[in-house]
Amino acid sequence: EIDAKVSELLSKMTLEEKVGQMTQITVTIFEDAKKPGYFDAAKLKQGIQDYHIGSILNVPNPGAPTLKRWQETMQAITIEANKTRLKIPVLYGIDAIHGASYTAGATLFPQQIGLAATFNTDLVKRGAAISAYETRASSIPWVFSPDLDFPRNPAWSRMWESFGEDAYLSSKMAVALVDGFEGNNNVGSKYSVASCMKHYIGYGSTTTGKDRTPSIIPERLLRQYDLTIYQAAINAGAKSVMVSSGEINGTPVHASKHLITDILKKELGFSGVVVTDWKDIIYLYTRHKVAESKRDAVRIAVMAGIDMSMVPEEFSFYTDLLDLVKKGEVPVSRIDDAVSRILKMKFELNLFQNTVADLKDYPKFGSAEHIEEAYNTAAESITLLKNNASVLPLSKNEKVLVTGATANSMKYLNGGWSYTWQGENSDTYAADKFTILEAFQNKLGKENVLYTAGADLEKEDDAEIQKAVELAKNASKIVLCLGEKNYTETPGDISDLYMSASQIKLALALAKVNKPIILVLNEGRPRLISNFEDKMSAVVQCYLPGNEGARALVDILYGDVNPSGRLPYNYPRYPNSLEKYNRKYTESISEGEQNNDAKYEKSYSPQFEFGTGLSYTTFVYSNLKIDKTEINNTDEVNVSVDVTNSGTRAGKESVLLYLSDNVASITPEFKSLKRFEKISLKPNETQTVKFTLKQKDLQFVNEDLKWISEKGSFTVQIGDQKKDFLLK
Ligand code: IFM
Repeated sequence: EIDAKVSELLSKMTLEEKVGQMTQITVTIFEDAKKPGYFDAAKLKQGIQDYHIGSILNVPNPGAPTLKRWQETMQAITIEANKTRLKIPVLYGIDAIHGASYTAGATLFPQQIGLAATFNTDLVKRGAAISAYETRASSIPWVFSPDLDFPRNPAWSRMWESFGEDAYLSSKMAVALVDGFEGNNNVGSKYSVASCMKHYIGYGSTTTGKDRTPSIIPERLLRQYDLTIYQAAINAGAKSVMVSSGEINGTPVHASKHLITDILKKELGFSGVVVTDWKDIIYLYTRHKVAESKRDAVRIAVMAGIDMSMVPEEFSFYTDLLDLVKKGEVPVSRIDDAVSRILKMKFELNLFQNTVADLKDYPKFGSAEHIEEAYNTAAESITLLKNNASVLPLSKNEKVLVTGATANSMKYLNGGWSYTWQGENSDTYAADKFTILEAFQNKLGKENVLYTAGADLEKEDDAEIQKAVELAKNASKIVLCLGEKNYTETPGDISDLYMSASQIKLALALAKVNKPIILVLNEGRPRLISNFEDKMSAVVQCYLPGNEGARALVDILYGDVNPSGRLPYNYPRYPNSLEKYNRKYTESISEGEQNNDAKYEKSYSPQFEFGTGLSYTTFVYSNLKIDKTEINNTDEVNVSVDVTNSGTRAGKESVLLYLSDNVASITPEFKSLKRFEKISLKPNETQTVKFTLKQKDLQFVNEDLKWISEKGSFTVQIGDQKKDFLLK
């Protein structure tokens, strides 16, 4: 039915109207110079009526307008769109990536890296549905999320926007977000938003770790890992995709017909909208140097398969594309394909009926119920990495010193894309939320918490360190909060993966006081801590846990909540040892080594391995069973394992199943994650967890870029239990 409506509308459109649909302009272009945040009526009219623009996106710094203000903004856009000949609604897109993070009073969840750490897809999906509800309440139907990037270098400045280093975990989380945002394929509901997979493809894998620098990724590996995440999200119905600003093997992705049309649209069967990233068509000319002119860049990108141009420097894309079509350099069929996709999304979102939210429909916006889900998500993400001599949980009777540069600020908890582009104003907009220090004070009473900042994130301050050291002498334990400034994109580029020198100095000075130190990491990527980690009694990773994160953290530190997060990446120990957990055997010769020549033994010893996550209780794995020890290449393998809570507290455990292909024609991985399930167990309770492995799980991409499996033995590993089976 929608296809028929699209064809009918398309048949009525002029070339100008079609090309206009492919244009996405920042909202600031239409701003009244004298009244920031409000439209200049003439400019809005020009964009929508004269240039027929199809889409508007948020600007980097809209702050946090109220629901009412968003409603007025969308009302103004809709009134203008309704004055056009065909009354095609304008699609508004926004970087609301961890909640409706540009609306005052919205519920903010942990950032994606924390979602991955929960290993709980149901929880993540519920959170995405809440984010969709609150974003639609803000009259915005399209979010630039989820991030499906596959970071190959943990220094990458947007690591925290990804689901970490594992493609299987990323796929499952991607589906949870797409289903949550789009209401299980019900994107037309007034509580759903269209998702946007980004940044297709290879964006998170720059060699240098710096944003938008070149990636080198053989197609075999793109297929083995990166594309599987997209395929999962596409199968879940993801409505749009944003293209990577980077290049792979020398080709900017925006210029690659092979990647966009042949693989994404044809092979993966993606029928939604392909939008560029910010100004990226122009950058084919000005930065990548693969186009002779801006006009040439438009031709290259549109012929590669781009459907919508984000931020095309006002209306140059429109004029250039019109000219290209008129001169026969871009066929009308390509334009029709692009516009059909855009119109289809508008119909699917029901925008022809409904662009402005009726606030009465959204009584749960920012409600206690939503906040509780954000709190639960933060609580399930926070990951206990080390707990020597059970120094945690803390007792309310002991005096603690809370210190560190991230201890008393909301912006470090929220990270980027929060209220403003870099998240720099979270302290202002989230003023009624609690910092880590405030969460301590709420629990213990202000007078019972010692505090000083101790360090700045960057600047060394010996007087502050001395102050912290003096206070530490009066405390029985020290909670040391270290981390990173909030950032997104290029401003997050670093040249040194170590934690900043000013913070290391504070850690080493406090260690000399000889009191147990609980290190709380509040960071978007693993900043190296190997030069002081051995002096820490406990290490807790809280990632970027959002507005409710500090409360969840402090509840975990005091044992009111039992931690259950698991690390979604290997935490490196050294800057030149960035192995993944699913490394090759040659990266860790100690296991599987034949010649026993210790001299050449490789060391694989991350600071903390992927999947690390301690609890205040203990879990014992037993009775691993597989239903077949020999299979044919159509069979499934049923696996079960008993998990027992052998400790004294109730707890949640993510049960991870790894598979190793013991011999293969492409060097096999040491082990790779194939299934996971999070369960809750009371003390002494046992649960049998069952998984089914399918043929696809045994396959890899061979030299001819085909998914194949090869006969031979495979090992299933869950906890400390292992079992082999043979593929005949
Ligand atoms: O969605 C973002 C993208 O992740 C980075 N560049 C800008 C886009 C729109 O704000």
